[in-house]
Parts: sequence; C-alpha cells; structure tokens
Amino acid sequence: MPSFSATTITPGRRLQGRLHVPGDKSISHRYAMLAALAEGRSTLTQFAPGADCQSTIACLRQLGVDVQEGPPGTVTVLGRGLGRLRSSSQPLDAGNSGTTMRLLAGILAGHAFRSTLTGDDSLSRRPMRRVIDPLGRMGARIESDDGRPPLTVHGAALHGIDYQPEVPSAQVKTAVVLAGLHAEGVTSVVEPAPTRDHTERAIVAFGGRVACDGLRMSVPGGQRLSSQSLSVPGDFSSAAFWLVAAAALPGSRIAVDDVGLNPSRTALLGVLRRFGARVEVEVTGDEAGEPRGTITVEADRAGTLHIGPEEVPGLIDELPAIGALAAHGGEVTVHGAAELRVKESDRIAALVAGFRALGINADEHPDGFIVQGPAAGAARPRRPHGGTADACGDHRMAMAFAIAALAAEAPSTILGADAVAISYPGFFDILDRLVV
Ligand code: S3P
Repeated sequence: MPSFSATTITPGRRLQGRLHVPGDKSISHRYAMLAALAEGRSTLTQFAPGADCQSTIACLRQLGVDVQEGPPGTVTVLGRGLGRLRSSSQPLDAGNSGTTMRLLAGILAGHAFRSTLTGDDSLSRRPMRRVIDPLGRMGARIESDDGRPPLTVHGAALHGIDYQPEVPSAQVKTAVVLAGLHAEGVTSVVEPAPTRDHTERAIVAFGGRVACDGLRMSVPGGQRLSSQSLSVPGDFSSAAFWLVAAAALPGSRIAVDDVGLNPSRTALLGVLRRFGARVEVEVTGDEAGEPRGTITVEADRAGTLHIGPEEVPGLIDELPAIGALAAHGGEVTVHGAAELRVKESDRIAALVAGFRALGINADEHPDGFIVQGPAAGAARPRRPHGGTADACGDHRMAMAFAIAALAAEAPSTILGADAVAISYPGFFDILDRLVV
C-alpha cells in the first residue's frame, strides 16, 4: 500500500549520546520459528518490535502455535514440536518480510498440507525461485506467480539434499536447513560466500545438531528441539545508522549498548575504520552463541571507500547506510551488489534517486552506486541543498535518507517515512534526541 506519511529532517551538526537499539530482526524471526518447532514453552525477551517479526508471529498463530506477547519485548511461544504445525484455511500474510516468507516456505515444505503465503506489493515483486527450486528438489511442490509470490506450498515427506545456492543468501540457506530438519537423511548447503550464521547458532541453542565446515553446513533430519529462554541482542543493522552518522559528522560520539556482535554481521565496523572513524568494541556477553556488547564510534576524517563483491554479503543490509556516510564528505563506491535491486525496494535506484533529490552527488551502476560528498579539499565545500526524498516504502531507505539529510543546508522531507516501523519503530524520536 502506498504511504503518504512524511517527516522533516532538520540539518544536524553532530550526534552525541548512548542508546539501545531494538532486538535483532533476523534472530527474532529464527527464535520464534524454532520455538514453534520445539517442544515446550519458550520465552524470548528483547524480541524485535518491528512489523516484520509481527508478521512471523501472526503466521505462526495461524499455523496453530500459541504465541503470547507481553510485557513489552517479551514473547512466549508454546512449541508444537517438529512437523506438527496445523494447516491454515486462510492465506498466511508475510507482509513486507522476505525472511518470513522464505523461512516459512522451508518449514511448510515439510508439512503434508497446502499453505498459501502472500505479501504486500513490495514482497510480491521479490524473487522466490531461489527457495522454490531447492524445496522442490527435497520433495515439496510450490506454485508461484512466475517465481514471485503468492506461493502455494504443497508440503510432503522430504528427503535431504546437497545444495549449492547461486546467490549468497542467509534466507535461502535457512529455508533449506529448516526444511532439512523435517527431511529424511542429511541436508547440506554449500554457500558461494559466507552469510549471517544465526540459524546455525540458533539450532544449537534449541538443542539441535548442526555440522559446519567452512562454507558447508549440514543438518540431520528427525531431530527434537527443546524450548528455551533467550534474550535477543540489539540489531546491528539498526545500530548501523547511528554508527554511520557518528562516523560522518565531525565532533560526534555515539555508544550503542547490548548490540549483537556476531562476526557475520559486523563488517561495517572495519568499513568505518577504513573511512577514518574511531571505533571501539567491548564484548559484554554471549547468549545462545550470539556475542553482544557496546560499540562506540567517533568521527575523525572522511575517506574514500571502495566496496567490492567479496565484501557485499557481509554488508548487505548496511549498504544504504554506507551510502549516507559519503553524503557528508568523502566518497563511497559499491560494486557487486546487484542483490540490492531485489530487496524491499530496488535499493540502488531508490538510493540514487533519493540522494540526488537531496542535492547529493550519486550515480547508479548496474550492480552498485557511487556517492560523492562535498569536496573535503575545497575552500568552501558546498553542502547538499536538501529536498524531498521518497523512501519507496523501504525502511532502510527512510533511515539512510534521514542520516544523509543531516548534511543538507536546509530542512528535507522524507516521503513514506513510516516505513521505519518495519524494523525500527521510534527511529525519528531517537534521531531528535541524538542530534545536538
Ligand atoms: C536476512 C538475510 C538477508 C538480509 C535480510 C535478512 C536473514 O537477505 O538482507 O534483511 O534474516 O536471513 P538475503 O538472504 O536475501 O541476502
């Protein structure tokens, strides 16, 4: 549904403060689904508050899982056991959430009934063959609209496969592995490049078995998962916007507490150091194999960054924020990131169009973009003029434009700003608090 909400961003000189970010979205989806497949009552705290994880909860409820919410951030899931979900007579609405649709497709492939998965306009445009093909090879049949949602999953008795996805995708890996938990024999995925490994860690946390060897991971079918009490660390990809803003605006210092530090998610920290920021990390704990701690970033200088294909999988959700870095100074070039075109929006086209509307120098490549900030060496660097940027219904676009718009010389408007509720409700209130 098109959004008509708009938010005004006033230029900001620097960011200062200490904060927590909402619980990790990727981990919350996985914990909720594994809790549904486990035996017994799981309690999940600091569960991601955004609309995406609400879509997962709503779908699980429709599949017969008792999910209770409250106090805020706490979700209690009464697991039904592996392969024991109940069929839903109504379509399961994944909303805007690709993770909900792809991961649930994996689970439903192993349930011998028919389910339909739908989504909003954005999700309905996203590619699903990447899960349809491997789940089909395992024995399920999935109908689609020429490889796009809605998906009708005809679950079946599955058998394990050895699968090599063409694109590095944690969602694809996870869909196959979740199906593998329901399959006979061993299911293996060999990734073309490492992606976030929350699924591997979460299955172990729920008492399951996973074997990992380099880019190969394998799960035996027919396991039993046991209920757990787990707290979700803060979402690194949400923290990324503050870390980038702190790195971009001279005189800034931001500390984010209790944020996830899983090394498959934190490549941005190295990128910020390369750009010229001071970055400190203090590990304060580890729960369910997920390290967490405090990240502090201080701006120092603006540099020139080249991000190539080998770095992209580790930065996939942070690339819009990285674009916003250069809006303030320096230069960022990204290549090998064609996957950005099939996210919640075409993030290459949307980012470049939005930045240009704000007066920031930006250009598209087929597989990336370049953003050039006000020339650092110039006697009087010209700040972007500001303007109106359309988030194209994409939460990460709305947040990237907000950080970029701080660099402008006049207030800017972000259309569709309410998209932030997908992963970060309250983002703009925190921005107000941090800008000084
Ligand atoms: C996710 C994996 C990534 C990421 C998405 C969340 C996950 O998608 O962009 O926001 O939770 O597994 P892909 O698997 O499509 O790269």
